[in-house]
Amino acid sequence: MYSDPLDTWEIIEEELRKPTIFKSRESLAPEYVPHKLPHREEELRMLASSFKHLITSPGSFSQKILITGAVGTGKTVTARVFGQVFTRKAREKGVNVAYVHVNCHRNRSLHNVVSDIALQLGINIPSRGLSVKEIYDAILGYLDERNIYAIITLDEFQYFAQIAGSDAVYFIVRTYDGVQYDVKRLNFIFISLDTSTLSLLDPVTESYLLRHMINLKPYTSKELFDILKYRAEEAFYEGVVSDEVLKFIADYEGSDKGGNGNARHAIEILTLAGVAAENEGSDKITLEHVRAAIMKTSREIINISEAILYSPLHELLVLWAVARLLRQTGQPYVKMGDVEKEYEMLCEMLGEKPRRHTQLYEYVMNLKKAGIIVARTSGKGQRGRTTLISTHYGPLDLLEKYIEDLVNRRLGITRR
Ligand SMILES: Nc1ncnc2c1ncn2[C@@H]1O[C@H](COP(=O)(O)OP(=O)(O)O)[C@@H](O)[C@H]1O
Ligand SMILES: [Mg+2]
Repeated sequence: MYSDPLDTWEIIEEELRKPTIFKSRESLAPEYVPHKLPHREEELRMLASSFKHLITSPGSFSQKILITGAVGTGKTVTARVFGQVFTRKAREKGVNVAYVHVNCHRNRSLHNVVSDIALQLGINIPSRGLSVKEIYDAILGYLDERNIYAIITLDEFQYFAQIAGSDAVYFIVRTYDGVQYDVKRLNFIFISLDTSTLSLLDPVTESYLLRHMINLKPYTSKELFDILKYRAEEAFYEGVVSDEVLKFIADYEGSDKGGNGNARHAIEILTLAGVAAENEGSDKITLEHVRAAIMKTSREIINISEAILYSPLHELLVLWAVARLLRQTGQPYVKMGDVEKEYEMLCEMLGEKPRRHTQLYEYVMNLKKAGIIVARTSGKGQRGRTTLISTHYGPLDLLEKYIEDLVNRRLGITRR
């Protein structure tokens, strides 16, 4: 059917004329670091006191701190905010402290972790050919030469411990063991969901970290209200969100009201409700917008979104293929061979060069280790053995949509 070009013009014009309710939508993004952290004051204080020696007697010892807590309790953001402010304070007092934040989910091998530390410190190392030891020595040398002390956060440490193994963990944890160092420049913050990874450490480090542990409790409804209030003030224009709406979200998610106490989830609901209001051309977020947003964000999807946020592109494509097949077939498990075919089809659709079988198998194993999928070998009955794959997460259509969005964002970024 012929459509008048003017219609298109008007549609776009109309959309552009709709008022926006977001003052700063970016400030609600997961990677945004806010200036204030309501209800994490005590934890920030503990961190500051733990790293005080960097100012009073820098180099005297190498501090190690463990931060634990469930998803969305503010582990990452607390470490980042602390790092930002502490380095500034130190500079003011004449000590050069660098803060490095490594995401171990994205960097799963010791080589990747160590390279990332070097990169963040701004050390020029050749991209190929250097061993872990050589890079590590380059880091220590660089800090010595410039008289810099470093606080290195290993976030999502459980992935590193599980995937890279105990030798890799020892390499980092025992930096200053055995050899006499006059000045100890490296200090560590380990972030993990719980204390289970500690069993991979030597007993001395384990008991030290247990005594130097900061456990973040899931947020209560009252706490989430304060957090949402603050974040909403940054993100929306005045009058867009009422306290009633914020309280509604806080009550849904608060740990004392049967929720997970997950600030990320609460903020995500607020964001989605805002988007819904804006799409409708409404200048206020209503309880109905929030209800719709809650329907859209099943808690399961939020949990998985945390786990795959930094997965390599092709690992996401494999997971996408699994979700599609599971939905299309309605079967509890799908075969690795079929996943590969579906994956290749997705690659073709996106103009991506498919990875080889061994690499795909590795992705499947990583997803399994991360608890996102379950994989097992088929019984003897079947002709030849095959890997059967499934996921407990869902609903699958939402999961697919979520992965698709993530893939598109990733491609948008890498293709620029
Ligand atoms: N006390 C707080 N004040 C403001 N925002 C917070 C607070 N705690 C968490 N957030 C926000 O909630 C989200 C989840 O926090 P994050 O640090 O990623 O949690 P975790 O690392 O424990 O999963 C982030 O967007 C973060 O900025
Ligand atoms: Mg985190």
